[in-house]
Amino acid sequence: GRVLLAYSGGLDTSCILAWLIEEGYEVYAFMADVGQEEDFEAARAKALKVGAKKFFLEDLKREFVTELIYPAVQANCIYEGVYLLGTSLARPVIARGMIAVADKEGCDFVSHGCTGKGNDQVRFELAFYGLKPSIKVIAPWRIPAFYNRFAGRSHLLAYAEEKQIPVQQTAAKPWSTDENLFHISYEAGILEDPNTTPPDDMWKLTTSPQKAPDAPEQLSIEFQAGLPVKVDAGGKTHTDAVDIFLTLNALARKHGIGRLDIVENRFIGVKSRGCYESPAATILRVAHMDIEGLTLDRNVRALRDQFITVHLSNILYNGYFFSPEREFVTSAIPASQRTVNGTVRLQLYKGNVTVEGRYSDEGLYDEKESSMDELGGFEPTDTSGFIQIESIRIKKWGQANVRKGQA
Ligand code: ARG
Ligand code: SIN
Repeated sequence: GRVLLAYSGGLDTSCILAWLIEEGYEVYAFMADVGQEEDFEAARAKALKVGAKKFFLEDLKREFVTELIYPAVQANCIYEGVYLLGTSLARPVIARGMIAVADKEGCDFVSHGCTGKGNDQVRFELAFYGLKPSIKVIAPWRIPAFYNRFAGRSHLLAYAEEKQIPVQQTAAKPWSTDENLFHISYEAGILEDPNTTPPDDMWKLTTSPQKAPDAPEQLSIEFQAGLPVKVDAGGKTHTDAVDIFLTLNALARKHGIGRLDIVENRFIGVKSRGCYESPAATILRVAHMDIEGLTLDRNVRALRDQFITVHLSNILYNGYFFSPEREFVTSAIPASQRTVNGTVRLQLYKGNVTVEGRYSDEGLYDEKESSMDELGGFEPTDTSGFIQIESIRIKKWGQANVRKGQA
């Protein structure tokens, strides 16, 4: 059979490539450009040298930004209160890119190098099956003949030598990473002890806040329907979706914004310690939540927080992007963002994003009505009635407690 392998150029997927050939498969290698820093040409050469019959590189950056990242920004998606979902967001576009190539090239099988303990195996495979139910998946790290033979890095290295797979001479970093234009993740290796502080030189995308510029930097972001449509920074204006994202990345990286060190709960139930850098995403979250403060109706916001933010974040983390529940939940995003129009002014300074002001024509905020110094909008005596009515139930509760001597 013909198999399309999600190839990274690293030791694991190179050995998987050679092993699949040994098992009698014809192997095509697939790589997605989702904005990671990568020598794609070196990876292509390596895949072909190891024995891939064809190599496919798909540039998925634009669909990654517009179809995955932007809805997540509009919905303020976040997992367990801290993780901005950078890896989870890239998996659906990568899986879709693979299925498109598998279809076109007549591959009955797809394969990946995800471990049997992680989230990514679930995300990739649920996406494959959602897009092409007849696809057959080969997950070597869950096949005894593979994982028994290659348990431990030394066996992979010995196999690489046997198969003349070039191995990077530089000492491998003692952790594993996953990078795209939204973020980089660091997991495993020395990070598995949750009390080990990562070395300063682990952080790859951002300057350390201590070394960031001593001068703060200002920028503004204009939102339309909850999407960033214009960024003004350093005397330049950016309006293209990818350009906006890359500009915010560059600014955030320079000012040390977006680092995170957490222990999270993986879908399969194990806990995992991970470090992340999500530079542009961190700025966008602050800015988007701020403009919503000015422009979004209170009750729409509350419902959205409960029913879209929470559910979409879990759907993305757990790998159900291609599912009826994801379609259902995201269908409500445009309605929630209709009024989220306006501009936020921000300052970046040594790891922090702070809001300096915001502006909108939506008119939900009325300076006169909100003012502490002026009457206006409604009569103060109206509020006495409001509190009287609201207190009916509270007084009942208080009286019962007094009767029982609990107050
Ligand atoms: N724990 C994060 C997540 O589940 C990052 C996963 C990183 N994946 C990887 N193959 N290195 O989204
Ligand atoms: C992996 O298991 O391959 C990486 C980590 C994850 O997917 O959670």
